[in-house]
Amino acid sequence: MKTFYIETFGCQMNTHDSEKVIGTLVEKGYRQVDKVADAELVLYNTCSIRDKAEQKVFHRLDQFKREGKGKIFGVLGCVAQQEGERIFERAPHVSLVAGSASYTKLPEMLIQLEAGNRRVTGLSLHTTETFDTPYTSRDNPHRAYITIIEGCDKACAYCVVPFTRGPERSRTSESVLREARSLAELGYTEVQLLGQNVNSYRDPSPAGWDFAKLLDETGKIDGLRRIRFTTSHPRDFGKSIVDAIDENETLCNHVHLPVQSGSDAVLNRMQRSYTRSDYLRRVEWMRKAQRDIAMTTDIIVGFPGETEAEFNETLRLIDEVEYDAMFIFKYSKRPNTPALQYEDHIPEEEKTRRFTLLQEQQRSIQIRRNARYVGKTEQVHVEGYNPATSQWIGRTSQHKTLNFADAQLPAPAGAETLTGRYLDVLVTRAGPNSLAGQSVF
Ligand code: SAH
Ligand code: SF4
Ligand code: F3S
Repeated sequence: MKTFYIETFGCQMNTHDSEKVIGTLVEKGYRQVDKVADAELVLYNTCSIRDKAEQKVFHRLDQFKREGKGKIFGVLGCVAQQEGERIFERAPHVSLVAGSASYTKLPEMLIQLEAGNRRVTGLSLHTTETFDTPYTSRDNPHRAYITIIEGCDKACAYCVVPFTRGPERSRTSESVLREARSLAELGYTEVQLLGQNVNSYRDPSPAGWDFAKLLDETGKIDGLRRIRFTTSHPRDFGKSIVDAIDENETLCNHVHLPVQSGSDAVLNRMQRSYTRSDYLRRVEWMRKAQRDIAMTTDIIVGFPGETEAEFNETLRLIDEVEYDAMFIFKYSKRPNTPALQYEDHIPEEEKTRRFTLLQEQQRSIQIRRNARYVGKTEQVHVEGYNPATSQWIGRTSQHKTLNFADAQLPAPAGAETLTGRYLDVLVTRAGPNSLAGQSVF
């Protein structure tokens, strides 16, 4: 039997692509192993979003080579698409280079590799296809990803994704709902709808559903208790999404809406196609919703030319919105992107200073926001057990981590575990990044 090893970096889209790649390989008679040394085929699913990603990939490919001779190496994902055939020059031991827009051709590519072809590529971005496969290997039996839209048609000045994932293309609503229903039948209770811009979804079938309609219908599937979605783009974020959340208890009351900057001038240079006030209008819809919707965001500090005054507008924005959590990134130069040509790149120390300021301010906001939960009972989906703290790990609908003790099952006992169950937990303590409590009966 043929064996393979796969290592995955990057966003949830990449993680889920790997689940589909694994499913496809298993269907073709391969067996997954967890050591490079034991594998005949070694795959590396890469991310290119920031921080000299290419160099890291080549370094890791060198390490793989030292794990033994006679193996076939393949590079997948965003660095594969970005670097293309250059990978064969810099890492001649690699035989397969394929971006995510070519994974539907994976079975053909495997046949070529098995036939001894040492230069197999899947690099075309001209596709309307989505990687829609029944062979998905999911290792979490409770929570499942579903890709609803692939690629990206936006053109943010700093971002490689439009070059690495191809054009935006949505699955039909019928195919998405079929997968969601079959997951519910298999016992999954939580699904997460995925896309670089999940809310740019547009059903290509005559039904022509938009994202809010798809959410609404997914929310009604029997057996599914929680539906999440990520990432939403502010430009395409309509009020109907908030209405769908209000109407369906199963849609989690959490929206990740990356703002990137609080300054109109910076947003304009970033080519984000919304203004600060457009963004704040969307925040207002969520604040006025009947449900308490948690909001999280991404911010880039030190975008080329970002002045102190522009940065301060970001600090003011986060005070105004009061996010529940935030991912902060220092701008990093990416190949092919327009921002590379911009002037006034910000020195690294200055990016670090802004990063720290933002982080500290957000930390106090999170302490304040999380303190509101103390004394309240929250329902969690149990994700596992942490032996280091002797606590169960739960996740609230708002995507907050709530660690808790359970009087009836203080620790996993044999096959008995709380993982996958939904429990009510009384919150007794709150920190900046998580809550803690005690399950109630
Ligand atoms: N499609 C999503 C974002 C996907 S990338 C959206 O548009 O919101 C995830 C995050 O990485 C982005 O939100 C951005 O904050 C960050 N990012 C992307 N390119 C970057 C770069 N060149 N430097 C620093 N951060 C970057
Ligand atoms: Fe990148 Fe912008 Fe597309 Fe998001 S919307 S993936 S940041 S280009
Ligand atoms: Fe990285 Fe590609 Fe995702 S660049 S963040 S793996 S879309």
